[in-house]
Amino acid sequence: MSTDPSKDPLVIFTPSGKRGRFARGTPILTAARQLGVDLDSVCGGRGICSKCQVTPSYGEFSKHGVTVADDALSEWNAVEERYQQKRGLKPGRRLGCQATVQGDVVIDVPPESQVHRQVVRKAASARAITMDPATRLYFVEVQEPDMHEPTGDLERLERALGEQWEIGEITADLSVLGKLQPTLRKGKWQVTVALYHDHTGGPARLIDIWPGLHEGGIYGLAIDLGSTTIAGHLCNLDTGEVLASSGLMNPQIRFGEDLMSRVSYAMMNPGGDAEMTRTVREALNALAQELADEASIDATLICEITLVCNPVMHHLALGIDPVELGQAPFALATSDSLSLPARELDMTAINPRARTYVLPCIAGHVGADAAAVALSEEPDKSEDLVLVCDVGTNAEILLGNKTRVLACSSPTGPAFEGAQISSGQRAAPGAIERIEIDPATKEPRFRVIGVELWSDEDGFDAAVAETGITGICGSGIIEAVAEMRMAGLLDPSGLIGSAAQTGTPRCVADGRTHSYVIHDGTAEGGPLISVTQGDIRAIQLAKSALYAGARLLMDEMGVDRVDRVVLAGAFGAHISPKHAMVLGMIPDVPLDRVTSAGNAAGTGARIALHNVAARAAIEKTVREITKVETAIEPKFQEHFVAANAIPHATDPFPELSAVVPLPAVSFNTGGGDAEGGRRRRRRG
Ligand code: FES
Repeated sequence: MSTDPSKDPLVIFTPSGKRGRFARGTPILTAARQLGVDLDSVCGGRGICSKCQVTPSYGEFSKHGVTVADDALSEWNAVEERYQQKRGLKPGRRLGCQATVQGDVVIDVPPESQVHRQVVRKAASARAITMDPATRLYFVEVQEPDMHEPTGDLERLERALGEQWEIGEITADLSVLGKLQPTLRKGKWQVTVALYHDHTGGPARLIDIWPGLHEGGIYGLAIDLGSTTIAGHLCNLDTGEVLASSGLMNPQIRFGEDLMSRVSYAMMNPGGDAEMTRTVREALNALAQELADEASIDATLICEITLVCNPVMHHLALGIDPVELGQAPFALATSDSLSLPARELDMTAINPRARTYVLPCIAGHVGADAAAVALSEEPDKSEDLVLVCDVGTNAEILLGNKTRVLACSSPTGPAFEGAQISSGQRAAPGAIERIEIDPATKEPRFRVIGVELWSDEDGFDAAVAETGITGICGSGIIEAVAEMRMAGLLDPSGLIGSAAQTGTPRCVADGRTHSYVIHDGTAEGGPLISVTQGDIRAIQLAKSALYAGARLLMDEMGVDRVDRVVLAGAFGAHISPKHAMVLGMIPDVPLDRVTSAGNAAGTGARIALHNVAARAAIEKTVREITKVETAIEPKFQEHFVAANAIPHATDPFPELSAVVPLPAVSFNTGGGDAEGGRRRRRRG
């Protein structure tokens, strides 16, 4: 800043409001840096990265007490002209490293020029993620070697980073050290490096190096590794933009649908754990490659992964035998977060020096996925008492407010994800995701993923021709069961009535029980999509487990009511609060107090990918969360049995009955329910 502040021009930055007086000729980027204004720069002011773009404003600003003259900034210079011709600058923009201060001026820093820019988490969410990733790019000019002053190239790179970017010590492993010399020479001593520097301190790691200015960007993967599905987001580590999102089935399903059956597979088969580890790592590589292809980027530009998963998946992905997680006291090999080279997880598809951050686990049954949900939904910052249910094959449940947060997991099984359901499938084009049943005619109408029209609307048949009608996904089955209950096709115990009892030929005999036919495509060679008695039982087991887990946390907290409910999970974005409540999945609250968070675990992984402070924060939060173990808690069984009816039999549900009257029907199918009744609940 100038030594004669009274005479020097005043520079005011918006939106930060930071201001200061600077000598004429000071570049805007320098002024911004001195004031601590968040203005980006990768090339360090050399006029080649265009990250420093700003918008000067001219005229009278009574709010700031300044008048900005037309010549408040230096004239458009050759560097800006070259950039304008090569790439084009938006109207009114200047390069902050080129334009210099000549008079009082107001400078706006547009969002894309802010280093710590905010990224909208998703359209429906007001909250944003502040960009502060662990891996960043730096353009640097390195001194050439000198025989008279012998130093290594790495040491000179380190010195240049210190001088030009205030970066302290760096470390480089052998594989990048081998690239260093040719790259420095190819770039004529100008290179771009990707450095990893996380919240734990210590030296920055050299992840990669490119000659000259690297314009291909760097990317990160946020992965939610679930028992049934693996979801991944490919994100730009500079802008935070999600370039591609994809999900695939976890191929470990062939070793067992739920977690406990995978633990038993590891127990019964020597080498079974290693086999499952290999399988899931192959899937993670395939997912990384698929996302890179979809975004048309080179997969080796993926420099970082954040991984969230339940404890069993955590151990299997890390190559640790999960056997201890199958028996009390359910000890984890480690519950702390991990920061590892991705190659230790055999991630060969991405950058060979990429890092992986695994969020901390909460307890032996409450994993890093629950930690990620806590990071995303922040129950620990809530004023009111919030119940967060992340519904998957294993439900992760959090209950709390800013004074205390409790967590447990509950073995819901894969039914909510459309697995173990006779017409079930994952949420993909062609799957029925919404359904309504007319209480008078008992006729269904539905919508399938990929088609906007309802099945009874004109044009539906043509619109659905491409995807077909292939099955029911998780949110579809929840709506189907709840709608069947509301339409009087299902009694409170969960029995489907016969055609005679319900008055619709859509209820067909199916052995000793009945099924409700939603869509019969057999005449055209398509599937018969129906809800069977077995499906109802699977959903009852799943929803009872979810409800019992929530109830257990409420007991522990000493409350009978919660203020609001957040539904999360792969299908959480689509789940209808009304149907969830008719089913008795969640405790009774006013319908407008139930919201969907979508894939909150995936969002948590994305937050941790983009913001290192969030990693430190969740590690602290996890240490403070009270863990409740459902597997050894006798009251869990009690709550589970009581929750079996649709909706819950003993909890009054006054909020629900005020808006959704449920018919008082009762069916008897001559013992057809015995098979379902004998089914054993399994942790999954
Ligand atoms: S800082 Fe790179 S162009 Fe200005």
